[in-house]
Amino acid sequence: MKTFPGDLTPFTIPSSSRPLSAGVERLDNAGTPEKPSDAPSVAPPTVDDIPVALRETPDPAPRPRANVALLAGSLTVLGLMALAAGGYVALQMQRSQTATLATESPTPTTQTPTTAPSASPSADTLLGHFAYTEAPQSELAPIVPDGSIKMRKAAAKAFRDMTAAAQREGVSLVPISGFRSLADQKYLYFDVKADRNQDAEERAKVSAPPGYSEHHTGYAVDIGDGNTPALNLNPDFDKTAAYRWLKANANRYSFELSFPKGNRQGVSYEPWHWRYAGDIQSLKTFYKARGQK
Ligand code: DAL
Ligand code: ZN
Repeated sequence: MKTFPGDLTPFTIPSSSRPLSAGVERLDNAGTPEKPSDAPSVAPPTVDDIPVALRETPDPAPRPRANVALLAGSLTVLGLMALAAGGYVALQMQRSQTATLATESPTPTTQTPTTAPSASPSADTLLGHFAYTEAPQSELAPIVPDGSIKMRKAAAKAFRDMTAAAQREGVSLVPISGFRSLADQKYLYFDVKADRNQDAEERAKVSAPPGYSEHHTGYAVDIGDGNTPALNLNPDFDKTAAYRWLKANANRYSFELSFPKGNRQGVSYEPWHWRYAGDIQSLKTFYKARGQK
């Protein structure tokens, strides 16, 4: 059976829409057309003899007034409808502007989440891990003398510079695992998972499924302390001189910790696993797809 360094240690992570108010207005008829006059065809006697209130024949004068009232009523209704429509449009515009601002600058919160939030599910994630493609062999360069551990050329150079700088300060940074192929990861994920009777979710906290490991990219590296090998791939690696040095200096070489405590991906704390994000390609590899950092 193939022995393979890297990530083999299992451990457990501590672990309005407010309905629009109906606002339906009753649009009652503003006026009712008058009935046709049934006035007799004969001329009325003496108009002035009959008090206005008792006349059977309606006074022709109100007709134009009724029409004016009807017109005014209709205009009022139309006006109200226009106002209501305008108000609705203004409300919608205000809401959409508020939503944009909220997305761009969320209100800061002082609340500390009690559990690690998970990465939002998307087509690119599996069990919290993002999809990555394998770096081509031609892009890889060795980071150990026997050539057994490789990284992308830019990352390899930065890693060598970083270990040399640590060495000058008496700190020993030892690479444990760099680039890993899909086949390597398949072994780590499926075979080790079966050997240890772990289910897929348990295993994913420690090791990414094949096709979903940062190690495929050639930008990730697992680092140990040459003076404390017993803590290789162990959460207590963060108590070593190597980790303290990395914490203080890795950014100078464009390395960052991929899985800090309580990371959004729900992956176990891995103080040994660092990724390079020091050129545009590595930056895009780790940030473009996720949009959540
Ligand atoms: N250990 C990390 C999650 C990996 O397997 O890529
Ligand atoms: Zn790793």
